[in-house]
Amino acid sequence: MEAAELWVGFVGAGRMAGGLVRGLLQAGKVPASNVLASAPSDKNLDAWRELGCRTTHCNLEVVHRSTLVFLATKPHVLPGVLEEIRPAVGSHHIVVSLVAGVTIQTLQRLLPPSTKVLRIMPNLPCVVQAGAMVFSRGSNAGDAESALLQNLLSSCGLCEEVPESYIDIHTGLSGSGVAYVYLFAEALAEGAVKMGMPGALASRIAAQTLLVRCGQDAAGDGGAPGQAEGGRLHARGYHDLRPAPAGEGSAPGHRHGCRGGGHQPGV
Ligand SMILES: NC(=O)c1ccc[n+]([C@@H]2O[C@H](COP(=O)([O-])OP(=O)(O)OC[C@H]3O[C@@H](n4cnc5c(N)ncnc54)[C@H](OP(=O)(O)O)[C@@H]3O)[C@@H](O)[C@H]2O)c1
Repeated sequence: MEAAELWVGFVGAGRMAGGLVRGLLQAGKVPASNVLASAPSDKNLDAWRELGCRTTHCNLEVVHRSTLVFLATKPHVLPGVLEEIRPAVGSHHIVVSLVAGVTIQTLQRLLPPSTKVLRIMPNLPCVVQAGAMVFSRGSNAGDAESALLQNLLSSCGLCEEVPESYIDIHTGLSGSGVAYVYLFAEALAEGAVKMGMPGALASRIAAQTLLVRCGQDAAGDGGAPGQAEGGRLHARGYHDLRPAPAGEGSAPGHRHGCRGGGHQPGV
């Protein structure tokens, strides 16, 4: 399906939906005029209108006017929303939920039986198009729907289809993982401040130090360990890039596969 033909709806227009739509628009995957978002208030919708998207307070209107419908409300709101939109959902719709903790089985139970359902788990860096997303398809969604979603959302970062059981694992790894990275960056900056560097400069340098991108090519099976196309690094890249010569000491935190030679700092 061509981008210009695709009508994309968002039920819920908060932070995560806003991040996804920015990626789609910036990559030219879909024209802003083909995007319609709904929310009860204008709190978030103003920003969508500034992007050129259409907005409404009516969830049913989104379903009526869209082929691809993202469900992007908070989890406790979702059952009521599904009850509301259910009569308008048809077999031509592709419904993609990014609501944490709501399984494909639940979505399929609360929507008409023939609905093509997919479940995606994004993370916050999608907002700056550096996300890590996994998704799974329901029983009525086929290769075409999967390929469409992957193509669209690759504009927001890494996007991989996985068995649904990996989605909660991903939430821990990459959803919560982002918070650990922030904590780590703060700790790095605080150390520099204690040594006398101004806080703002320390924060900028700590952030820059953490600009290590684990790209699709690197993380994939075919990627060369430690280094990949475009200079992107594998998550274990440091170990592979810097094997510790005997007697020199190994990489910080290096505990795996060490058979003598250098000592391990901090161990
Ligand atoms: N944030 C993350 O890092 C993250 C990561 C992965 C998955 N998710 C999932 O993404 C979903 C949205 O999270 P978020 O952080 O984007 O939340 P959010 O910023 O609070 O956005 C929620 C949106 O839902 C709207 N809404 C509330 N009641 C509604 C209703 N009855 N019908 C239609 N829209 C309604 C809100 O309207 P108003 O604009 O009027 O308030 C708001 O636009 C959650 O289910 C979460 O599990 C979030």
